[in-house]
Amino acid sequence: MKEVSRERLLKQQDFIQKIKIENDRIDTPLKAFVETYGCAQNENDSERIRGMLIDMGYVLCESIDSADLVIYNTCAVRENAEVKVFGKLGALKNKKAAKPSLIIGVCGCMMQQEHIAENVRKKYRHVDMVFGTHALYKFPEILDKARRGTRVFSTENSDGEIAEGIRISRDNSKGAKISVMYGCNNFCSYCIVPYVRGRERSRSAENILAEVRDVSKNGYKEITLLGQNVNSYGKDLGDAGITFAQLLREVCKVDGIERIRFLTSHPKDISDELIEVMATEPKICKQLHLPVQSGSDEVLDKMNRKYTRGAYLDIVRRVRERMPDIVLTTDIIVGFPTETNEDVDKTISLLEEVEFDMVYSFIYSKRQGTPAATMPDCLTEEDKHRNFDRLTRVQNEISRRKNEAMVGKSERVLVEGVSRTNDQFLSGRTEGGKIVNFPGPEEMVGKIIDIKITECKTWSLTGEII
Ligand code: 5AD
Ligand code: SF4
Repeated sequence: MKEVSRERLLKQQDFIQKIKIENDRIDTPLKAFVETYGCAQNENDSERIRGMLIDMGYVLCESIDSADLVIYNTCAVRENAEVKVFGKLGALKNKKAAKPSLIIGVCGCMMQQEHIAENVRKKYRHVDMVFGTHALYKFPEILDKARRGTRVFSTENSDGEIAEGIRISRDNSKGAKISVMYGCNNFCSYCIVPYVRGRERSRSAENILAEVRDVSKNGYKEITLLGQNVNSYGKDLGDAGITFAQLLREVCKVDGIERIRFLTSHPKDISDELIEVMATEPKICKQLHLPVQSGSDEVLDKMNRKYTRGAYLDIVRRVRERMPDIVLTTDIIVGFPTETNEDVDKTISLLEEVEFDMVYSFIYSKRQGTPAATMPDCLTEEDKHRNFDRLTRVQNEISRRKNEAMVGKSERVLVEGVSRTNDQFLSGRTEGGKIVNFPGPEEMVGKIIDIKITECKTWSLTGEII
C-alpha cells in the first residue's frame, strides 16, 4: 500500500489555509453546493470534499440557486447517471453567464474516463474544474487554480495511492461511512469500476480503527465499512494485513459503536470466517448485501463473476444456517448482452428460491471499454424491459410478504431523522436495514430505540415506540 506522502498532503493544507484567509476577508461567506451520484463510496468522497470546503471557509448550501461553487460528484456505473449529469451541466451554462464568478466543478468516476473528460473540455466550456477519483485529495490546489481563472483538468491515474487524514464532513443523522479499501480487481465484464477506481488497495487497520474511534467519540452509534469488495480487504497488504473478518472483530471492540454494517461483498470471497464473525458478534447487523447479478450459469460465466448459481445458493444456505433471520439483499442485472428469456427465467427462479428481502435490479447499460460492450445483443430493448418488469413483479411480491411477516414484531431502530413525507413522523432503520416510520419527537434522532411494527408497505414499515 502506498500512502500519499505527508509533504504532498501538507501542500494541500497550505492551499486550504490560503483559500480560508481569502474567504475570511469577504463579508458574506461563499456558499458551496455538492451533489452526489452513485454509491456510498461516492457519498463518502463527497463528505471529504465538504470537509475540505468547510476548512476553506465555505458554507454548505442545499441548492444551486444561491451557490458560488457547484460540484457534481459523478457515477459511471450506468449511462442514465451520466446523462443526468450532462443535463445538469448544460443547465448551468445560463447560470454562469448571469453570474460569471460562479465556479463549476465535476469530479468522480465519470471524469476518470478519458472520452468523458474530453467531452466536457470541448462542449462544456463553462465548467472550471474536472477531476477524477484519484485527484480528490488535490481538490484544494485545483480549486485555488480555478479561483484564479485557470481551467483545470486533473484526470491522471495515480493508481494505488491512499490519501489519509482528509477531514470528513459527515451527514450526522445517519451512521458514519468509513472506507476500508478502494478500487476493484474483479473485472466483471459489464463493469466500469475497475477502470475508474483502479486496483484494490486497503487502508491500514490502524488508520481504520483510529477513524472508528474518532466517529464513536463524536457520538455515532452506527458505522458502515465500505469497499467495492470488502471481503478481499487486506489481501494487498501481505504480512502486514489482517482479513476483513479480523478487522470486523477489532472494530467490534470499539466502545460506543453499537451497530456495524458493511458493503459490498462479492460471493466468490465470502469466507466461513466472515459468516462466523457475523453470527457471533452482536454488534454486526444481521444483514448481508450479496450481489448475485444473474441466476443463470451461462450468464454468470460471461459476466466473469467466478461463481455458479449452485455455489451462490450454497453460501445462502450456510449463512442462513448460522443466522436464520438474516436480512438478505442483492443486485440483479437484466438485459446483459448474451442473456436470453430463459436465462431471465432462471434468475426469477433464483429470486423465488432465495426470497431476498430486497433486490436492486438494473437494466444492463453498455460501458465503453468493458468486455461486455462488444458482445452482441441477444434480445431487443423491448424484450429486456419486459423481462425487467416481470422480474420486478415477482420480487415486489416477495419483498411485501417478507415485510408483512414483520408486523407485530419489535425491532431495534436507529432513528435517522424526521420522515421526508410527514414531519410528525421520524424515520429510522432496523438492524436489517429496513426503513421504519413512526410518530415521535425530534430529540430521538441518533438514538437506538425499540419499535413495534404495526403496518407494512412494499418498501417501508410503519411502527410505534414501545
Ligand atoms: N449496467 C447495469 N448495471 C450495472 N451494475 C454494474 N455495472 C452495470 C452496468 N454496466 C450494477 C451491478 C452492481 C451494481 C452496483 O450496479 O448490479 O452490483
Ligand atoms: Fe464492478 Fe464486479 Fe468490481 Fe463489483 S466486483 S465493482 S461489479 S467489477
